[in-house]
Amino acid sequence: MTREDIRLRVGVLGSGRGSNLQALLDAAARPGYPARVVVVVSDKERAQALERARAHGVAAVWLNPKDFGDRATYDAALGRLLAEHRVGLVCLAGFMRILTPELVRAFAGRVLNIHPSLLPAFPGLHAQRQALDYGVKVAGATVHFVDEGVDTGPIALQASVPVQPDDTEESLSARILAVEHRIYPEAVRLFAEGRLRLAGRKVIVR
Ligand code: GRF
Repeated sequence: MTREDIRLRVGVLGSGRGSNLQALLDAAARPGYPARVVVVVSDKERAQALERARAHGVAAVWLNPKDFGDRATYDAALGRLLAEHRVGLVCLAGFMRILTPELVRAFAGRVLNIHPSLLPAFPGLHAQRQALDYGVKVAGATVHFVDEGVDTGPIALQASVPVQPDDTEESLSARILAVEHRIYPEAVRLFAEGRLRLAGRKVIVR
């Protein structure tokens, strides 16, 4: 008889490169990490995120939006899939779809997202370019709980990076990405250890 794996079961949703997924897979491979990725879902057939999942022996599912009539039926299928995999936490990592309120409610308090800015500054697309265009001197990344808005949910962890005078969107994005890869696994660890408590729009980190 094998001993039951009691680590938190994480489902990751991603549409592209999957470098944050990779950071979570790498963290989960380290001894004592209290969570593991059990399923990766993408809306894009060729997402590198799916390849990374397969390379780690993790279930990789392409849910093609064209197979569903509308967002509601797509998200209903997505919710069923996550439930079938008995997912205790959903991590959005470059997932280019906005979850329906029904799906957010079905997993209330159990969905995290990573965003490449110090929220509430620069929500939405091209956050790094928005930061450069605005002229901020400090940028960063945010892990937050997902609510029914876009990049508006309670903030779990943030990390800052300096903006250099000669930064391009690429150089700033790379600097931010390095801290994303640190804080996302850290936030998942805190969640798995029951150390993130939602209190209204605040997250108490114990
Ligand atoms: C990251 O910059 C993340 O903050 C944003 O989308 C990007 C995803 O990158 N939400 P990756 O697919 O994890 O490499």
